[in-house]
Amino acid sequence: MTGMEQRRLGRTGCDVGVVGLGCWQLGADWGDVADAMAVLHAAADSGVTFFDTADVYGDGRSEQFVGRLLRERPGEQLTVATKAGRRAEPLVPEAFTLEALRDWTDRSRRHLGLDVLDLVQLHCPPTPVYDDDRVFDALDTLVQDGALVAYGVSVETTAEALRAIARPGVASVQVVLNVFRRKPLEEVLPAAAAAGVGIVARVPLASGLLSGSYDATTRFAADDHRSYNRHGEAFDVGETFSGVPYDVGVAAAQEVAALTPAGTTTAALALRWVLDQPGVTTVIPGARTPEQARANAAAAALAPLDPQTAQALEAVYDRSVREHVHARW
Ligand SMILES: NC(=O)c1ccc[n+]([C@@H]2O[C@H](COP(=O)([O-])OP(=O)(O)OC[C@H]3O[C@@H](n4cnc5c(N)ncnc54)[C@H](OP(=O)(O)O)[C@@H]3O)[C@@H](O)[C@H]2O)c1
Repeated sequence: MTGMEQRRLGRTGCDVGVVGLGCWQLGADWGDVADAMAVLHAAADSGVTFFDTADVYGDGRSEQFVGRLLRERPGEQLTVATKAGRRAEPLVPEAFTLEALRDWTDRSRRHLGLDVLDLVQLHCPPTPVYDDDRVFDALDTLVQDGALVAYGVSVETTAEALRAIARPGVASVQVVLNVFRRKPLEEVLPAAAAAGVGIVARVPLASGLLSGSYDATTRFAADDHRSYNRHGEAFDVGETFSGVPYDVGVAAAQEVAALTPAGTTTAALALRWVLDQPGVTTVIPGARTPEQARANAAAAALAPLDPQTAQALEAVYDRSVREHVHARW
């Protein structure tokens, strides 16, 4: 296994590789993943030590795959972050009781085969939850009970991120951050760094747009969120192509692709940009094949982007993307 740069994941106290693996697609509730275990092992073989999943991905299948990875690689320092809260029905603030959180996390413990969960993130909870002391007291109770080591929040908006960072028990915040989603640079990353809260950067490839390989003819399966959530029909629009209209995103991504240095890929350039932002702990690209997992892990070994490339990426954002997303979140 290659050694990857490690960073401290906020108040969890553990160090994780700077490129992790997003495991949403491994539940196969969208996309066409032939062999989830091959993707997981390719990532781990490439030095990935941080795996981000959720209890709802494939209704538990993603967690079960990750649990199998842990059993197949005993003795390795792998950190698993899961999420809880989206199994609430209805999805209302009142659903976030100690009893419900205990039920949800016990199910995750079973699926992952872990007595103690490394990190549980509230999964884009309703906004009032951020101000509800009882929810965070319940999470503290689960830590005291030994069910989890630490908790964090996966947020939709920068305002929610700032509220989560202000919570003394929150170890990490997961936020959309990529070349087409720069708003966290303004307040969220500095606040997290000042508070010692880890930042997990999700959707770093703008759902694949930042591979530079999509065009007007690209088609996605009907059960892929890039078909059914393109305009935010099923969940927050920012989760699909970072909320950028598809045609605008394709054109901007082609400008990004033109900036790719020789010998690397546009995906790795996009991931390196995220890793270069002060305050970021780890980036969690989803990978649908072992080759993608290996290519993404390679971004950890790239040199930081030179100032000209960084400025050119900012110019693409300012010219084409900012007006569509900046004020929205
Ligand atoms: N609410 C939440 O908490 C939340 C929401 C969304 C995501 N997440 C987390 O964030 C993770 C990442 O998000 P995401 O998977 O939606 O978006 P992403 O990482 O921005 O994009 C992933 C997609 O990009 C393409 N890709 C990946 N690596 C590539 C490479 N090396 N070269 C070319 N194409 C590549 C693949 O699609 P194709 O092969 O189809 O092109 C892949 O499915 C998820 O797995 C999940 O863990 C959390």
